[in-house]
Amino acid sequence: MFRKIAISAVSALGLMTGAAFAAEGGGHVEDVPFSFEGPFGTYDEHQLQRGLQVYTEVCAACHGLKFVPIRALSDEGGPHLPEDQVRAYAKNFSVTDKDTGEDRDGLPTDNFPANTGAGAPDLSLMAKARAGFHGPYGLGINQLLHGIGGPEYIVSILHGYTGEEKEEAGSTFYENHTFSTGWIKMPPPLADGQVEFADGSPNDVKHMAEDVAAFLMWTAEPKLNARKDVGFKAVLFLIILSSLLYLTNKRLWANVKGKKLH
Ligand code: HEC
Repeated sequence: MFRKIAISAVSALGLMTGAAFAAEGGGHVEDVPFSFEGPFGTYDEHQLQRGLQVYTEVCAACHGLKFVPIRALSDEGGPHLPEDQVRAYAKNFSVTDKDTGEDRDGLPTDNFPANTGAGAPDLSLMAKARAGFHGPYGLGINQLLHGIGGPEYIVSILHGYTGEEKEEAGSTFYENHTFSTGWIKMPPPLADGQVEFADGSPNDVKHMAEDVAAFLMWTAEPKLNARKDVGFKAVLFLIILSSLLYLTNKRLWANVKGKKLH
């Protein structure tokens, strides 16, 4: 009873501030120490490659990444695959050519295919569209400390299943503590050992979820490494410039300020 009241109070607050996305289902999102967090954090290209593999072998059956160009897979600061591997990867897809109207093999210049057949949302920007951390009281202080928690939200969704399911209006729903309504239409996509990594990395649900979440963070923000690099240089430049201006200022006014007026 008390819990119910508490939950509706939290939801009401969330609605008022438009901030508490996962509060309704009681969704608790754990912080994951991703390599790309903090002012100097960068993507781990091996993790992105594993995430790409999980995405390709599992998620792509239902989801699409229609805003992501395949050629970006060779970008530095991304999965950084060799060009020939990217060409081979693109070839797996069949694309209807815009000019000739005929089907052909995919090219690196194409985007990843869209896929919404199963009612699954596009994942290109998902890591930025969902927030894992809120509050307290919709103030967003947790976000200040932990980031918005998009990738953490994805990790949490992927292993937030309780194993319960129900039929409603002809669809099956799976109980998931992280999802906003508590019941999600996506069947639990990952099982321990489902994907075999070439580098022998752990492939339990938690690790695969983290790898694919990191990959989806990259698709949503492919230039994160470059952005932080430029940001750091800009701040350094401003510090040096400010110090020089301060010294110049001191020197210019030295005559005036040094003089006693009386
Ligand atoms: C069998 C099809 C299927 C597979 C495979 C699948 N999904 Fe989904 N996914 C769905 C459907 C359907 C939804 C929409 C669920 C809803 O709105 O209730 C969804 C929704 C989502 C959402 C959005 C949740 C939200 O807050 O709206 C995320 C994130 C997601 N999937 C990630 C993944 C990842 C990552 C994988 C691969 C590990 C994956 N999915 C594999 C069908 C699938």
